[in-house]
Amino acid sequence: MKFFVDTADVDEIRELADTGLLDGVTTNPSLIMKSGRDIMEVTKEICGLTDGPVSAEVTAMDYDGMMKEAAVLAEIADNVCIKLPLTMDGLKACKALTSAGHQTNVTLCFSATQALMAAKAGATFISPFIGRLDDMGIDGMELIEDIRTIYDNYGYDTQILAASIRTVNHVKDSAIAGADVATIPPSTLKALVKHPLTDKGLDAFMADWAKTGQSIG
Ligand code: G3P
Repeated sequence: MKFFVDTADVDEIRELADTGLLDGVTTNPSLIMKSGRDIMEVTKEICGLTDGPVSAEVTAMDYDGMMKEAAVLAEIADNVCIKLPLTMDGLKACKALTSAGHQTNVTLCFSATQALMAAKAGATFISPFIGRLDDMGIDGMELIEDIRTIYDNYGYDTQILAASIRTVNHVKDSAIAGADVATIPPSTLKALVKHPLTDKGLDAFMADWAKTGQSIG
């Protein structure tokens, strides 16, 4: 499973990229707002921190506007992935951009039929929003499972990018359901490695090691 980090905070991205475990980055207009940075400037900086895809979202609502913005965003770096909303204009832009050789991420997916449409439009990634469905009392994970089944039924190679992830269990359940990628907030990504028994076991090993008086090397 690939891990993307869902943030426009360059310090967080740099720290995670340094681990060698980061496969890409996703941003959206809310995350750009939160960063307080200029979209062009911060996206360029992020693209320099990872070789993986960096999703940058268009903000126009119409096809022509999306295509103009996509051309500007695509100029930033080779690893920019154009993020488009799941609307008919967004899908039309997705089809055109994918055909022109760009990576695309269709976002704000809340149903299996929307995901089917995105695959037909040739999306590189589809972003089903798990957490926001859970917030409404709808099981977001069922959506991941349904999309996996549909894509496998027809051999679509659009990658399922589990988004709106809020918990470590969201990552685990997305992996079990067969999502190709999870885009994860920095705090949740760091929490994936944590277990109290690991900490407790390590403390015990280190205490015993100190008693030996040895050192390695
Ligand atoms: O990047 C899109 C998605 O991950 C947003 O998540 O927490 O705002 O629902 P959230």
